[in-house]
This record gives sequence, C-alpha cells and structure tokens, in this order.
Amino acid sequence: MAKATTQYVCGACGYTSPRWLGKCPACEKFNTFAEELLPAPVTAKSAPKPRFASSKAVPLSAVEREKLTRVPSGIAEFDNVLGGGIVPASLVLIGGDPGVGKSTLLTQIAANLAKDHNVLYVSAEESCAQVKLRCERLQVTGEKLLLLNETCLENIAENIGENKFVVIDSIQAVYTEELNSTAGSVGQVRECATRLMRLAKSRGVTFFIIGHVTKEGALAGPKVLEHVMDTVLYFEGEGQENFKILRAVKNRFGSVQEVGVFEMTESGVRGMSDYSALFLSDSRGEAAGSAVTPSETGNRCMMVELQSLVAKTAYGLPRRMSLGVDYNKLIVLLAVLEKRCGVPFFNADVYCNAMGGMKLSEPSVDLAVCAALASGAAGKPVDKYTALFGEVGLTGEVRGVAFADKRVNECVKMGFRRVILPNKNLPLCEKYRNKIELVGISYVGQMLKYLDLK
Ligand SMILES: Nc1ncnc2c1ncn2[C@@H]1O[C@H](COP(=O)(O)OP(=O)(O)O)[C@@H](O)[C@H]1O
Ligand SMILES: [Mg+2]
Repeated sequence: MAKATTQYVCGACGYTSPRWLGKCPACEKFNTFAEELLPAPVTAKSAPKPRFASSKAVPLSAVEREKLTRVPSGIAEFDNVLGGGIVPASLVLIGGDPGVGKSTLLTQIAANLAKDHNVLYVSAEESCAQVKLRCERLQVTGEKLLLLNETCLENIAENIGENKFVVIDSIQAVYTEELNSTAGSVGQVRECATRLMRLAKSRGVTFFIIGHVTKEGALAGPKVLEHVMDTVLYFEGEGQENFKILRAVKNRFGSVQEVGVFEMTESGVRGMSDYSALFLSDSRGEAAGSAVTPSETGNRCMMVELQSLVAKTAYGLPRRMSLGVDYNKLIVLLAVLEKRCGVPFFNADVYCNAMGGMKLSEPSVDLAVCAALASGAAGKPVDKYTALFGEVGLTGEVRGVAFADKRVNECVKMGFRRVILPNKNLPLCEKYRNKIELVGISYVGQMLKYLDLK
C-alpha cells in the first residue's frame, strides 16, 4: 500500500488523525478537520537540515527605510482602496458574490498593467477563449498579457516565469497535486494560498487572487487565507444596482476604511468620482422616515441617506429589521428614543435601511438613525436640506465624533443648508458658520424638538 503522505488536522485544537473525522475527539468541535501534508519523517539517518543564515537583532535606528514604489493600476478608485497603488510582491485577495464583476475588474487591471509590465492571467474557471471574449467586450488589449487556463498550482508556478503580476481567478478552483482533497476544500485553499505567499515573497511577484464568498458573505475557505494576504478586498453591490463598492477589510499598506465606488457598464467597471449623491434618494424631504448623514469612510466623506419605516405591528411581538446599520444599534437607539424621549415603538414594526447598499458602522450615524426613526414614527418628513451626525449614548446624550469639520465641509459641498451636530464638535466647525447653519445639541431630545418630530 502506498504510504500516506497527508493527515487530517483539527483547525481548532491541532489534533491529528489519519482519516477525516466529523467531530474532533479532543476538543469535540464539529467540521474542523482539514487535510494537510505530513511533515517529512525525521530518521536517524536523515541528514541534518541546512540552517539558513540566522538573522541578527539590529537597533531600530539602524534599520534602513525601504522605499515603497507603488505601481498605478490604471483605475484610480482601485489604487485609492489599496492605499495609493499596488505594492510590489504583495498578495491581494478580492472576494465577492458571483457576478459582481471580480473577473471584469481584474481583467481590466491586468490589461492596464500589461502596457508596461509582463502580466499573467490564470483563468482556472473560464477558458482562454472566454477571457478573450471578455477582453473584446471591455475593449482592452494587452501587448504583454499572457493567458493561462490551468488549475494545477504546480503548473501555474512553472508558468510564472518573468511575470511580475499574476492574476489567479479563482483560488477555490486551484489545487495542488500533493493533497488528495478536491479543489476548493479547506485544506487545498490553505495550502495553495500559503504557497502563493511564498512565491510572492521569494520571487517578487504580485498576486491578485479572486476568492469566492460563502452564503453568509465571508470568504470561502480557512481564516488563514486572509491571514497570509497583505490586502483583502471585498467587491460588493446590492441587487440590481449597477454601482459596486470595493472595500478593504485588511491592508498592510493602507487604511482599511477606504472604499471605492464603481459603476458597472457594458464596457466594464468604471471608477466613479461623483459618488456622493448616489446614496441620496429623489424623494428625500417629501416622505417621512428619512434622514441624511455625512459618513466618513476612510479618507473620504459621503452623504448617505437613512430610511425607516415604522408600521403598526400585526402580531404580539414587533419586528425589527435593519439593512446597512447594525441590528443591535437599531435596537439600542429604539430603546433610547422610547425611554428618554417618549417616542413609542413598543407596538410598531421598525425597518431601517441605508440607501444604495451602504454599510454604516461608525457611531456618528446614530443621530441620523434616531431622526429617521422619529420621523417615521411621527409621520413628518425631515427637511431636505438638513443633515445630522453625532453619537448617541444610552442616557440620550449626543457625543462628539471624529472628523467633524470634514463632515460639515461635505454638507456644504453637497448643498445642505443646515447641519445638526454635537455641541462638542462646534468649535472645530465655526469656520463654516457663514456657509451653513450649525445647530449644536447635547441631547437627542433637542434634535427632536428642533425638527418638530415629537
Ligand atoms: N455582454 C455583457 N454585457 C454587459 N454586461 C455584461 C456582459 N457580460 C457580463 N456582463 C456583466 O458582468 C458581470 C459578470 O462579471 P464577472 O466579472 O464575470 O463576475 P465574477 O467574476 O465576479 O463572477 C455580470 O453580472 C454582468 O453584469
Ligand atoms: Mg469570475
């Protein structure tokens, strides 16, 4: 019988087994086993392992600064998200739902890069003819663009050659011969990603790796997939909207708050510079239950509209649903409005949504969520030209937030006439007083009174 070369390891506790197990006998967790290569056996006869020259500790001041020369990708929005361009010898993982445009985006970037560099596009999912068809549709040509239809990692490595930029579409379709499990399994994805990382660092190759996401929206595969990457990006777009958002969730060379907004057109994805009005609806100011907040994501600020629908509940237990705003935050803000300001929600179903598929996680959106909810409950619209920002505490106080001046500046730029903000942030924003009306508040109740929502 052939000697086994692989083993199964529990991802949670490290327990090893010669065969796959559903439940780990050591830590009793389910579904944690993944295939791994067996380490080479150590025998008395085996030659001692050659040791690499050991590194010496050096004082911080003696370390020479390495100059990062970033390579522009040809798509400004993409460069922004990466933190100012592509860092050589880095690994960039791009995840997203099927059909969101990952292959399209990377085909365009590969073609742009191929004007000056040697680029290899490894298509493990589509044939070369299909990629060519896409290139024709996108009207891109790359003199130095090589296409490869291959799923075996060993063959891909052989084909890298002199190419300094390699696109792998996708990591879940690639397998290594040394593991028996099928492509896309946890063990395969982990092993392939680790090998690509070694290739990137040892040969100075930049890899753009496409990754699939699971039903829940996380990258399919082991967590180590994200650990070995330098940059992890998510490409997302809600429903039929033809604009997509690229966001960084991990970046060793830039801020993770960056987002890039793209438009999906017949001729490919196009970066949008005028994105701020995207997240506002036309009916703003007419219907009750909507409020606008300047949201700071990375180095840019955009106006986002929050909408709420407050309806009388038909059942004993009221429903709460939230899109784009944290569900728990919604519950807390409803409780604050009810207890501190006397707005009744106990017998109402509440739905809350951030326009355009935006995901708002910063605390500064609290005040606008409260305004949208109270407006929805009162049935009175919030003035079209009023924006709000501020963090709301459990006692109903409105706390100061970061980047207040930048937010006010964006409100001015987008033609708003009034901004309701925390008193704490007023001093920083005084310089805008001649351009926009600044309304400082300390409690949520003051906001409700000012907007006449009670
Ligand atoms: N002939 C076409 N004309 C216009 N848009 C197209 C055409 N073919 C594909 N698309 C768009 O490209 C998207 C598919 O992009 P793709 O890059 O293949 O997605 P992914 O690789 O993320 O699965 C589709 O959702 C569609 O909107
Ligand atoms: Mg694809």
